[in-house]
Amino acid sequence: MKKQNQQYDIVRPQPESLLQSARSFGYSVETALADLIDNSITAGAKEIKITFGIDRYSSYIKIEDNGKGMNEKELLNAMKMGSFNPLDNRNNNDLGRFGLGLKTASFSQCKRLTVKTRNKSKNEFIRCWDLDIVKEKKDWILLRNCADKNSEQLLGKFPDIGSGTIVLWEKLDRLVESEELKSDKEHFYRKFVNVRKHLGLVFHRFIEEKKIRIFIFDEELQAINPFYISNEYPSVELAEEQLSIKQQNICIQPFILPHESKLSNVERNNLEITKGWIEHQGIYLYRNKRLIADGTWLDLGFKKKENQRLCRIRIDIPNTLDSEWQIDVKKASAKIPDVIRKRIKTICIISIEKAVKVYTHRGAYLRRTELKKEIVYLWKARQKKGKRFYEINKEHPIYNLIADNLEEEAYIFYDYMKLVGESLPISFIVSDFSDHSIVMKDFFEDSKKELKLIYENTLSALINAGFSEKEATEKVNSIECFQQLK
Ligand SMILES: Nc1ncnc2c1ncn2[C@@H]1O[C@H](COP(=O)(O)OP(=O)(O)OP(=O)(O)O)[C@@H](O)[C@H]1O
Ligand SMILES: [Mg+2]
Repeated sequence: MKKQNQQYDIVRPQPESLLQSARSFGYSVETALADLIDNSITAGAKEIKITFGIDRYSSYIKIEDNGKGMNEKELLNAMKMGSFNPLDNRNNNDLGRFGLGLKTASFSQCKRLTVKTRNKSKNEFIRCWDLDIVKEKKDWILLRNCADKNSEQLLGKFPDIGSGTIVLWEKLDRLVESEELKSDKEHFYRKFVNVRKHLGLVFHRFIEEKKIRIFIFDEELQAINPFYISNEYPSVELAEEQLSIKQQNICIQPFILPHESKLSNVERNNLEITKGWIEHQGIYLYRNKRLIADGTWLDLGFKKKENQRLCRIRIDIPNTLDSEWQIDVKKASAKIPDVIRKRIKTICIISIEKAVKVYTHRGAYLRRTELKKEIVYLWKARQKKGKRFYEINKEHPIYNLIADNLEEEAYIFYDYMKLVGESLPISFIVSDFSDHSIVMKDFFEDSKKELKLIYENTLSALINAGFSEKEATEKVNSIECFQQLK
């Protein structure tokens, strides 16, 4: 009974409502699994195994690790909503922050979460949340054992030696919704399709540094490094930059990927990762080497554009700056702190500019950086009344050669050139470029000899037209198309 003069009320959350809301953080199956792997890595696991089964009555996903496990008190705390205060200092390789991930990630996919753990003293403990029981009993009922025999069987046993933790998800109502086994399986596999790539990408630095091995059944996941696509044509690393907030380092490393025309089909596919090239451009934010954002311009205000797609910028931040970066529970989004925003924006602008040049000139740009003289292009991009169009460059040496030799009234040549410019099939080109199943032929890809011949013809035509050998050579060397011959 409320005391007359009491100045406050105690308002406890309703267990069922709170746990139901915790289901709606917006995880996908791959981001939820990544959150559990974070916990395994923080617990020092070297191997993590994911298995699953889709069955009409007992579908499950299981994540087993060989980390340090927990004692009973730690397990109880782990199962609590809000195991830790987000403001607490964390070990500098801890991938957690909020004390929520295990629960929010699990309940986003399932209604029953069972955790079995064994610590170095070989003591084993089990706890289980079943949302149906919480709903029925209207209280925070955490079972001290498996909910039933089937769970117990699915949990399985630890190997004879070592410590570890097993997390079991059952009642996968978000992954298998229907009543029919065949379509259950279809739904499940459709939702599971990005899991391998997502985990290979998010944890690629741990896999590459041989800190962890992740298996799905017996298949070991391979690292997906978004910056190194091709051995033969490495990405260009622009200057690395270190910034600092509160004496904590932030490291920024822009990469320009090789032009796609240089890549093999397999390499080109690797570039696509899960969302496709255009989507994967931008900033890759790593917190303690774990990928948080896989290609985003964050809140910098840039749009994702086709011609910027070779630009990928790696930013490394420590977990001590979580509140400055406004890291979220899912570890999937962040905001750039105001104090370094301007500098990061400048680095992005410079990197984007370089990436656009490589994209537009099919990689020739980087080889040309050492050339100081002007380069003459065949096409000119122009703007009139706010509209962009392309036309043949009338200052091009070859255009002038022809024009100078024309009869007075050879209007048809100019008309023809006008038509060529006006009818450039831009929409076809753009659509072909964005269709990744279409491989575009590279410039004189299979007949460099022919290009060389054109170069020589142009040179002698210029000499014949009265230019000295030196002048003629300078002119042909300035033509963009011939830069490939160098
Ligand atoms: N696989 C595991 N092995 C050992 N301990 C674990 C494991 N999973 C969870 N824990 C313990 O449970 C705690 C709670 O995990 P949970 O994911 O809910 O929160 P967190 O990792 O602390 O923070 P965040 O919400 O940012 O993920 C962890 O801090 C850890 O102590
Ligand atoms: Mg966690």
